[in-house]
Amino acid sequence: MDLPRVVFFGRSGADALAFFNLDLASWRGCRVLDCPGGPGSFTALAREAGVESLAADPLYTLPLPELERRCREDVAFTMERLALSQTLRPDFDLARFRQGKLEALEAFLADRRAHPEAYRAAALPSLPFAAASFDLVLCGHLLFCYAPIADGGLSEQPDFDLDWHRRALAELLRVSRREVRIYPAHTIERRPRVHPWVEPLLAGLPPGWQGQLEPTAYDEGFEGETPLLRLWRPGSPGPRRSEGP
Ligand SMILES: C[S@@+](CC[C@H](N)C(=O)[O-])C[C@H]1O[C@@H](n2cnc3c(N)ncnc32)[C@H](O)[C@@H]1O
Repeated sequence: MDLPRVVFFGRSGADALAFFNLDLASWRGCRVLDCPGGPGSFTALAREAGVESLAADPLYTLPLPELERRCREDVAFTMERLALSQTLRPDFDLARFRQGKLEALEAFLADRRAHPEAYRAAALPSLPFAAASFDLVLCGHLLFCYAPIADGGLSEQPDFDLDWHRRALAELLRVSRREVRIYPAHTIERRPRVHPWVEPLLAGLPPGWQGQLEPTAYDEGFEGETPLLRLWRPGSPGPRRSEGP
């Protein structure tokens, strides 16, 4: 599977709970950053559960009709690529995958209309937020995933190289006071491996941070382990057993 650009579509809040191993009840009253938020419905779901979530994405500068157009176009484009790809299991339900993205888009559009303040234009590796301003920072389907194809990602572009990943991770850690979760932490291939940049990133964590891979039960058509990368500050609550798979 390969893509010429970062596509603008998002997962449902329920999908995000699965790939981030997240139990929202454990974060009630906390502040969460979802970056990139894309046209996904995590922020809407989190608010309903009593968790304050801010979604950040560079494309949020665009007006809503343009975001909707971009999303529908990118879903259609990705479906064409996926239909030809050998990356996914033959039994993976592509129609359901597509439907999930369109439902997430509808929920995103409604929530963004009702709560525009919960959506901020911002791009890694430089976020417009003060240090330690969120309890939990989530990053789905950008790091590792959009590494160049030769490095185990799906991007035809060289932009998100290891140096960019180091800077992006440092920024995600800077704005979090407790935890950062990144999904996927695996290569984009039929039988994924732990992404080769996980090790150098873990080796280069700033003082005060620890990290580990965790299995997830999320199914996006791959065979085998599809881990997330979880990072926390010792002394903060860190991984909670109740949240594990
Ligand atoms: C495939 S979507 C993922 C959305 C959502 N997190 C999910 O897991 O479904 C990738 C998103 O990354 C955003 N993006 C592209 N470049 C970015 C950057 N430098 N910093 C943050 N987000 C970026 C795109 O606009 C797009 O919405």
